[in-house]
Amino acid sequence: MGRGFFLTFEGLDGAGKTTQMKKLAAWLEAGGHAITVTRQPGGTAIGDRIRQLLLDSRTDNLAARTELGLMFSDRAQAIAEVISPSLQAGRVVLCDRYTDSTEAYQGGGRQLGSEVVLRMHEVMCGGLQPDLTILLLPDFDASLMRARSRNDRMKKNGADENRFERENEAFYRRVYNKYREIAAREPTRVVIMEGDARIAEIHQLIVKVVEERLGR
Ligand code: TYD
Repeated sequence: MGRGFFLTFEGLDGAGKTTQMKKLAAWLEAGGHAITVTRQPGGTAIGDRIRQLLLDSRTDNLAARTELGLMFSDRAQAIAEVISPSLQAGRVVLCDRYTDSTEAYQGGGRQLGSEVVLRMHEVMCGGLQPDLTILLLPDFDASLMRARSRNDRMKKNGADENRFERENEAFYRRVYNKYREIAAREPTRVVIMEGDARIAEIHQLIVKVVEERLGR
C-alpha cells in the first residue's frame, strides 16, 4: 500500500476516542500533514446505510454472523472508496474503529471468536493493517457510565443509535478483555492508553507516539 500512514483509534464506547481523534487531527494539520478522517461503520454513502441498519435500536433479530458480515461489508467499501486512495496519495488516514472493533465486539462480545474475524479480515480487507492503533482503555466502570449517559442524551435528541449501547455489562467485559488480548498479541502496532489520565495528558502521549512513528 502507498506511502501514507494508516492510524486507527479503538476502545469501548465512551472511552474518549472522538475527542482524542479531533485533537490529533488538529495537531497533524497544524504540522502540515494532509489527513483523511473517517469512521466505521459509516464514512461512505453505502457505509452510512449499513451503519443505520447496524446501530438502529429497531433492528432486532440480527444474527451475530449477519452483523459480522455487515461490519466487513462496510469496511470493504471504506477501503475501496476512502482508505486505499488516501494512503496511495500519501495522506495520513485517521479511522475511528477498524477490524479490532470487530474482533472485540463480534469476536469477544458476541462470542464468535477471533479466528473467524481474522479470516474475514484477510478476505474482505486484503489483510490491510493499520501502521499504528491507539487503544484507549480507561477504567472499565468509568467508560461504561460515560457511554450510558451519552446514550441517554442522544435519545433525548432523537438520535437512535443505541443498539450496542443497550448491551449488558458482561458483553462489555468481554469486549474489554478481547481488546487486551489483541494488544498483548500485537504490542508493536497497538499502543494502549490506560487509566484515567486527563484529556490533555493523553493527547500529549498520543502525539509523542505518532510523532515517533511518522518520523520513521
Ligand atoms: P459509534 O457511535 O461509532 O460508537 P463510538 O462513538 O463509541 O465509536 O458506534 C459504533 C458501534 O458499533 C460501537 O458500539 C461499536 C460497534 N462496532 C462493532 O460492534 N463492530 C465493528 O466492527 C465496529 C466498527 C463497530
